[in-house]
Amino acid sequence: MAPSFQLVAAAPVTDLFVVPVFSGARLGPGADLVDEAIGGSLASFMQETDFDGKRGEVLAVPVGGRLDARAALLLGVGDADTFDAAAVRRAGATLARRSARVASVSTTVLDAVTTGVDRRAAAQAFAEGVCLGQYQFLRYKSDGKASKLEQVVVVGRSNAQVRAGLARGARVAEAVAWARDLINEPAAAKSPADIADLGKEVARASGLKARVLAGEQLVRARMGGLLGVGNGSERPPCFLRLEYAPERPRGVLAVVGKGVVFDSGGLSLKTAGGMETMKTDMSGAAAVIAAMSTLRDLEVKARVIGYVPLVENMPSGTAMRPGDVLTMRNGETVEVLNTDAEGRLILADALSLAAEEDADAIVDLATLTGAVTMALGDKVAGLMGNNDAWIAQVQGAAERAGERLWHLPLPDDYRRNLDSDVADIRNIASGGGAGTLVAGLFLKDFVDGKPWAHLDIAGTARSSSDDAETTKGGTGYGVRTLVELASSFRRPAR
Ligand code: BES
Ligand code: MN
Ligand code: ZN
Repeated sequence: MAPSFQLVAAAPVTDLFVVPVFSGARLGPGADLVDEAIGGSLASFMQETDFDGKRGEVLAVPVGGRLDARAALLLGVGDADTFDAAAVRRAGATLARRSARVASVSTTVLDAVTTGVDRRAAAQAFAEGVCLGQYQFLRYKSDGKASKLEQVVVVGRSNAQVRAGLARGARVAEAVAWARDLINEPAAAKSPADIADLGKEVARASGLKARVLAGEQLVRARMGGLLGVGNGSERPPCFLRLEYAPERPRGVLAVVGKGVVFDSGGLSLKTAGGMETMKTDMSGAAAVIAAMSTLRDLEVKARVIGYVPLVENMPSGTAMRPGDVLTMRNGETVEVLNTDAEGRLILADALSLAAEEDADAIVDLATLTGAVTMALGDKVAGLMGNNDAWIAQVQGAAERAGERLWHLPLPDDYRRNLDSDVADIRNIASGGGAGTLVAGLFLKDFVDGKPWAHLDIAGTARSSSDDAETTKGGTGYGVRTLVELASSFRRPAR
């Protein structure tokens, strides 16, 4: 369970009291209480233990019952002038990781935030960091030890902004954790239909409209890409549409998420190693559903429509073959030369539908190409699009949300590498490299010129190690950016 947050004026009795220390062993707010408790010897204690206050460094201080907490922990927060919202998020995560064995913590960390940083944003980041840093996926562990941390007390003056930020951060983190759980779940336990059902459940609980297309309905909806990819699996594809419709909405945002519950590659089979992580190929879908679950609670003013194509990419006697031609929802024909480039096929249908409906702007999230990992690694996502104002809006949201991405180009002249001899377009390039850009160019054909941004999250959707608020396995990348984007949405100019 995620801990609850309180804001109080004076340090109460908790298990642990966490105080910030800046680089150069400069004491932050509240550290004087710890110093007093140990008779003014804190400076020499830090020196003897080589504690400098660098970001992420921690030092337990034995206080021997002379403080209103059983123990004190110094938390290095780095230089004061770089202690921004992202650093606060990291500090919250470090605090949570170090407090997993106690029930309650009080802290003055938020008071270390430099003037100039928005109090509300800092409080939100802190709560996100704490909740995400303590996340663990224990469902299948017989001896898993969940974090005991239940209560986090923020010591500081009563402040409505801080209170609101803490609540918002906890709510957003809850959604991220929900996405992580679904991403970490084995593919056997999450068929396309299972995820569609989950989506309906979430919709019921969060005031969204939900519609699921399956079977014959997909044929009538001309979802040729989704049906083509789905042909190889015993578990049929489906399409989840979610809608958040507040009164007098301020613009319409379409969010699209790749939902491949397992990507074997199809007949263009992946290697054994290449398949190991392919249960996470629905991370875009998870991010869309999770982000949309928060919109009512966060009183988002825009109308938001989620488009989630759900499918399993498997090889079988009925699987689509290299050389097959599919007709997508918008009528465009695609020559499938590699069945492992399946994400773009299901996104083509989803983007076509989004572009036909009311969207003022479209954003999609997809674990689309291994190539983006080559270019940007697993901490930075690739961002592409067809409208500079809209791209800038997405960049701004990601920046505020503390999720890193980098704008990549979509060079028009690379499009010829997708020219097909028999159809309107091929699903893999005939050479020329730039796998990530080519995938983006493929998608661009299906948005009908509407403002659109594409996030390739193949690298960022999962992590091979724990690092502050990021945990090993599914990361839930994109949830925070989508929430922020929906909250601040403005119709971009065409
Ligand atoms: N789901 C994969 C992309 C991926 C690869 C995500 C590694 C995470 C880690 C996608 O469907 C895929 O297989 N892409 C191919 C495209 C290629 C066939 C043009 C790839 O990147 O190899
Ligand atoms: Mn694939
Ligand atoms: Zn895939």
